Amino acid sequence: MQDGSLRLKIVQTGEPVLRRMARPITRQEISTGEIQRLIHMMRDTMRDAPGVGLAAPQVGVPLQLAVIEDREEYTRELSPEARAERGREPVPFHVIINPELTLDDRAPVEFYEGCLSVPGFSAIVPRACSVTVHCLDESGKEKVIRAEGWYARILQHEIDHLHGTLYIDRMITRSFTTLDNLNRHWKALPIREVVAALEAVASVEDR
Ligand code: CO
Repeated sequence: MQDGSLRLKIVQTGEPVLRRMARPITRQEISTGEIQRLIHMMRDTMRDAPGVGLAAPQVGVPLQLAVIEDREEYTRELSPEARAERGREPVPFHVIINPELTLDDRAPVEFYEGCLSVPGFSAIVPRACSVTVHCLDESGKEKVIRAEGWYARILQHEIDHLHGTLYIDRMITRSFTTLDNLNRHWKALPIREVVAALEAVASVEDR
């Protein structure tokens, strides 16, 4: 790349590393040049993609580490209503290591979600609306994150990656769509109507 950043290859669904449990990182390891370089390269790779999160297994590294950043510019095409509905606020760049996730409010919130390891597709994924994460940061310091809305969704998605889980394991399977068809047929509808339309057909077929 021209700006001197280093981009890693993002592995795609079917790659075994995406389906394994990632290994926790020790505090001593965190301070090594190897892990610090990995963090910088993952940050550059996520920004280049672009994405709002990237987990180490997605770059072929089976460690419990993920980078997250949700920039204002990523939400420019969303209306203020859509942004409010998603609880989508900018999240500054940060690193989560060895995260422990607690679902504080399990009431499921349904939105379309995608993944850099399943490119070109999207599906509706129910996620808990608020979570707490206990983890280490990039300097090995303990950190507690309380999150709601879109940030809570990002955390659940990235922590799933560290446990060998992809969004396709949690999606409403009938909502799975190419991005092209999402824009063409579904995007303008409220999620509730999409789910109702998809389920209405399913229940007729089940009879
Ligand atoms: Co992903």
